[in-house]
Amino acid sequence: MNFQDKKFPEGFLWGGATAANQLEGAYLEGGKGLNTPDVLPGGKVRLKVLKDPGFDFELNLDKYTYPNHEAIDFYHRYKEDIALFAEMGFKAFRLSISWSRIFPNGNESTPNEEGLAFYDRVFDELHKYNIEPVVTISHYELPVHLVKEYGGWRNRELVVFFERYVTAIFNRYKDKVKYWMTFNEINSSLHMPILGLGFAIQKEEDHYQPTFQAYHHQFVASAKAVQLCHEMIPDAQIGCMIVYLPTYSVDSNPENVLYALKEEQLFNYFCGDVQVRGEYPAFINRYWKEHKIELEIQEGDLELIKENTVDYISISYYMSRTEKKDKTPEEVGHGNILGGIKNSFLKASEWGWEIDPIGLQISLNQLYDRYQKPIFVVENGFGAYDKVEEDGSINDEYRIDYLREHIKAMGEAIQDGVELMGYTSWGCIDLVSASTGEMSKRYGYIYVDKHDDGSGTLERKKKKSFFWYQNVIATNGEHL
Ligand code: BG6
Repeated sequence: MNFQDKKFPEGFLWGGATAANQLEGAYLEGGKGLNTPDVLPGGKVRLKVLKDPGFDFELNLDKYTYPNHEAIDFYHRYKEDIALFAEMGFKAFRLSISWSRIFPNGNESTPNEEGLAFYDRVFDELHKYNIEPVVTISHYELPVHLVKEYGGWRNRELVVFFERYVTAIFNRYKDKVKYWMTFNEINSSLHMPILGLGFAIQKEEDHYQPTFQAYHHQFVASAKAVQLCHEMIPDAQIGCMIVYLPTYSVDSNPENVLYALKEEQLFNYFCGDVQVRGEYPAFINRYWKEHKIELEIQEGDLELIKENTVDYISISYYMSRTEKKDKTPEEVGHGNILGGIKNSFLKASEWGWEIDPIGLQISLNQLYDRYQKPIFVVENGFGAYDKVEEDGSINDEYRIDYLREHIKAMGEAIQDGVELMGYTSWGCIDLVSASTGEMSKRYGYIYVDKHDDGSGTLERKKKKSFFWYQNVIATNGEHL
């Protein structure tokens, strides 16, 4: 199909996205310490653990499997994988640095040279093919030692350790990395603090106070990273990263509309307002008061946040959310991690994630209207079961359909006036799912022969979507 009218700008950053803990494997090699995803079990039990107040961050090898330990072994196979990305024509590759490869316990005073050298090799390989690395500093992980000894991000000391980590990587990679982002899907911790904030809410504890205090520490740490980036790498850009779900009211009943608006403010805008505008938004004061939240804010914190706002906004977009004030448990969609209700206008993936490409156009318009900053879609994709045919082919038409409609929606948003920097679709190569630890929830253009039980040769195969995306990039989004 020709998509002549919706031109993507020159230099648009087409590519794919991943995260260290979901693809690297080699979980104890090269001097790496244990990080939080290393102790998260695989399979549907992971979702329970993520919400378990008693979770102790211990490995339990007799009871669980840990797919992240080997993942897809990118640690040893990065050359082969990057060559495939180059064959698809990638202009950008989003990856994250694993904090515990650089500081195994998180609180050492000097970095681990073997860990630093690994990412040097990866960045050099990317540059060999003119692929721009886009680096997430913290993607759903932190050293387990910082959880056990310090209680994760609820402890202010993490700001100091994070600053040390960020200084080490900026110093080392200042000539190799020009696109950075701080905390992956920072707003998701409102629902699941284990992944982003590194602690489980204790049984007897109300989750509001520790969550917002930990957020304050992350905002300070993020502002510090922005400041350091601008000082140490003046030609680089650094963004925030938000999981964005446009939130619809189920109907035009003002009660429901107001409820959806409040949810949207809290989930979609709270973190962005702090990181992009440099201030806590007015709406949060009432929320804090009603939930008896009192933040400890040190002298200078608010000035630091105000003076060090991000250069761009990156988002992940998978689905929209539909809300109703008084919903019954039966109305809640089973894949809606945030608890929205089923939207009768939308179909869903096999994991219940509702498919809504127009929602992406809405999201981009909403974000640009609010902030007037460039936007980078750094995650979007379709998790599905893939079948390898007898002849070895993988005909993932459903994935192509999903991606095509979402790319069209981005083209429409560009026509609407939105400044869009790039698109790195999620899991460009099959990797371990973050929410369920499964391999069978596949997103890739490249199939990896690895299964939920840990079996498989790790062989890579090109899916049908590989060739489709290659053509999308070659035509700068004109042939979809
Ligand atoms: C995002 C995360 O939430 O969605 C990724 O940043 C994650 O780490 C992706 O993998 C898809 O989610 P899942 O649970 O299907 O892997």
